[in-house]
Amino acid sequence: MLIVDRVSKKFNVNGKEKIAVDNVSVKIKKGETVCIVGPNGAGKTTTVKICSGFVSPDSGNVYYDSISLLNRKKYLEKISVLFEGIRSINWALTPLENMEYLSGLRGIKKNKKDIEKYIEMFELGDYKNQQCNSLSRGNQQKVAIACCLCLETDAVFMDEPTLGLDMEISHKIIKILKTYAQTNKKIFVITTHDSDFIEEIADKVLIIEKGKIMFEGSCEEFKAVQNTNTFKEAYLKYRGVL
Ligand SMILES: Nc1ncnc2c1ncn2[C@@H]1O[C@H](COP(=O)(O)OP(=O)(O)O)[C@@H](O)[C@H]1O
Ligand SMILES: [Mg+2]
Repeated sequence: MLIVDRVSKKFNVNGKEKIAVDNVSVKIKKGETVCIVGPNGAGKTTTVKICSGFVSPDSGNVYYDSISLLNRKKYLEKISVLFEGIRSINWALTPLENMEYLSGLRGIKKNKKDIEKYIEMFELGDYKNQQCNSLSRGNQQKVAIACCLCLETDAVFMDEPTLGLDMEISHKIIKILKTYAQTNKKIFVITTHDSDFIEEIADKVLIIEKGKIMFEGSCEEFKAVQNTNTFKEAYLKYRGVL
């Protein structure tokens, strides 16, 4: 279980304090996929950065199966993370090399067969030996996600994994992630603005505004509360723009 326990984070911007994450607590069970939703600047990325050890919280703590975030080495072994954009992959390397290299950096030995499984899953066979700088944006993103999944950690954080992708690639990636989440008992925490993605994959939705959790529950519960048919309508109604 991933436990986020009363986590807060402020930033100092031009001498002014800005609360990015405000006393966020949540428990996520093994096998659960959680989507973090909210307007730009709500604190979604900062929450993911805290849970993945990139930003230290001012207060509060995060635990994976009682391993504290402060026990960095042990905690980080349990998680992998993908940030928005495709900076996480090495442009000079091929998809195969990226997976070998990135898992090597984490001290995870992968054999060719393990890696080929992810190449196949993401339909990257035709490109597996091509430098990533020559791939399309969609295939680069597939490589970035494959690199994150191939670590096979217990918890996976993804910050806007379908950002900027065309509808077709986005659809394919959503399907792959859904199948993967259903067949592997892991924790997935995904930030996204894509309402189809949320409806497709989320067991639980966290709506965050100004760093605070405003709603925690399933898509169905949120739609029932807002009395709408789709998550998009429910969210827009909740935000007062429908
Ligand atoms: N490194 C930083 N320095 C100063 N302010 C930051 C920093 N990172 C995030 N913020 C601020 O914290 C708030 C939350 O940002 P973020 O977590 O990126 O939101 P989201 O991902 O929901 O769009 C925003 O107001 C943002 O400007
Ligand atoms: Mg963000």
